[in-house]
Amino acid sequence: MPTIIQSALHPAGPQAAQLATLWWVMFWTCTVVYVVVLGFLIMALRRGRSRDLERPAARQLTRWVAAAAGVTLVILVGLLTVSVTTGRAIASLSAPDALTIQVTGNQWWWSVEYSHPEPSLRFTTANELHLPVGRPVRILLKSSDVIHSFWVPNLHGKIDLIPGRQNQVWLQVDRPGVYRGQCAEYCGLQHAHMAFSVVAEPSDDFERWATAQRQPAPEPSNALEQKGREVVESGPCAMCHTVRGTLAGGRFGPELTHFASRSTIAAGTAPNTPGYLAGWIADPQRMKPGARMPATGLSADELQAVLAYLSTLK
Ligand code: CUA
Repeated sequence: MPTIIQSALHPAGPQAAQLATLWWVMFWTCTVVYVVVLGFLIMALRRGRSRDLERPAARQLTRWVAAAAGVTLVILVGLLTVSVTTGRAIASLSAPDALTIQVTGNQWWWSVEYSHPEPSLRFTTANELHLPVGRPVRILLKSSDVIHSFWVPNLHGKIDLIPGRQNQVWLQVDRPGVYRGQCAEYCGLQHAHMAFSVVAEPSDDFERWATAQRQPAPEPSNALEQKGREVVESGPCAMCHTVRGTLAGGRFGPELTHFASRSTIAAGTAPNTPGYLAGWIADPQRMKPGARMPATGLSADELQAVLAYLSTLK
């Protein structure tokens, strides 16, 4: 698995770069203010309390206080200006060829739909976004239940997903890599396990990935995988999950058509390996208490067959 990066101070695109600059401006301004204030405090403590504040000294003191208040005002207005300017600058990109992605927040996972003018080229995945490097992306954000917040520190600030409202954010990635994102608004018991990853890759790799995602699920190649598909179609899995090209068409949980191409399970809770996956399917509440996925009650044979089948969904 590639190294996953999560840091607002290592921007990988223009929006995050502006935010990082804003952060450093505020950091250094506040550092200077802090050091100067401490300096004056130390000076005052050294001098001790002067017994006789004569009239001229008192007048001088008033002047100092007025000057300090003036400087404070200038600094605050300056920070406000920089902040508003940055907010305006990152609010939009002008881009006719932008890629549009609809992200929906759910307790506690992310549905990701890649839109396209041609309906047959649209597809849905979950908990993992792939973005082409250097191309503007418009991400639409909504929620199916409570308020969540979409945050990929390397790429942009936080944007809320609000039930009944469509928010949007523009971003662009300039550096290939895998960036970690997470829900940044407390949304219930498993808020901390509502993560996702953003895979930024060159345009060719992105197109290859998108083409693969548009395909229906591959056919099982042996008896075990065949049995796994039957269990998925006829068992509890199909109530909530979709595997395109099969009878499983549930809409309640993450789309699983190309599940094996994703690097994590349960919205970034664990790596997508057979061991973790077996534990997750057998008893989701142990790994992620409160998650909407119930224990499936599959027999050991059925579980093995489902694992074999899921591993083919590349
Ligand atoms: Cu969704 Cu916190």
